Amino acid sequence: MMLSPETLQKELSESAEFIKEKLKGNHVTTAVTLGSGLGDFAEDLEDKIEIPYGEIPHFHGTSVAGHAGKLVYGKIKGKSSVLAMQGRIHAYEGHSFCEVVFPTRVLKTLGVKNLILTNASGGMNPKFKAGDLVLIKDHLNLTGNNPLLGKNPDFLGPRFPDMTHTFNTELSEAIRKAAKNIGYTLKDGVYVGVLGPSYETPSEIKMYQVLGGDMVGMSTVAEAIAGHHCGLRIAGISCITNMAAGLGTEELDHADIKEEANRVKGTFIGLLNETIIGLNQ
Ligand code: HPA
Repeated sequence: MMLSPETLQKELSESAEFIKEKLKGNHVTTAVTLGSGLGDFAEDLEDKIEIPYGEIPHFHGTSVAGHAGKLVYGKIKGKSSVLAMQGRIHAYEGHSFCEVVFPTRVLKTLGVKNLILTNASGGMNPKFKAGDLVLIKDHLNLTGNNPLLGKNPDFLGPRFPDMTHTFNTELSEAIRKAAKNIGYTLKDGVYVGVLGPSYETPSEIKMYQVLGGDMVGMSTVAEAIAGHHCGLRIAGISCITNMAAGLGTEELDHADIKEEANRVKGTFIGLLNETIIGLNQ
């Protein structure tokens, strides 16, 4: 459903007010959206405050296995604070893009400055392998949809936002630096966002490769567009959980994808922790 700018503004402030009260004066500048199988980052935080999506006014719960569905505030090493979205909603669950990006806009309303979007994806670049963490340097929105359709909410951003620097250079550099600090060789690539929920055909994968895509997944592009539109600094980390259709030997299965993400979680958590500590310095 598309909301009028007035209704959107009212709902955003109701959600943000509710969350602010739960955070009891704790302020956050950095938020992370955790992709499939990557939710454990939030489990390890200190002094946690957990808010199930179901309790937050105007939030939708997520129905996907491997996505917990709660907002988790916490600290790393006693001081660096972060707000983690453990689970997200997707358009393939039947949500409009407007609903998909509602939490992104709530983060902005809360005063968040940096949003790191993470996801599980299928590798299309032959240099990638399952288990790689890849910095998203740009995206191809091939969903055929856009979260900014409808009357523009002018209070959030412009009608026709420039997308040249969707993935923020400084925030991306902070992730690269964190990778270096922990001795991890971070690759980078272009993320192709599709609607799903069916995985791609081998021919589609060939097409996306020709178009310049390095990995493919069913999330992130809507949040990146809406986040950039409202002035959040956006960065993205993709966990290659499988080689895309036709490039590997196995048929694709969500359970295997979660398992692969789970195998990488130690490095993933280490990279995020180091990034957030760096941002708080
Ligand atoms: N395709 C689309 N989405 C995905 C994939 C894939 O191969 N792997 C994880 N998410």
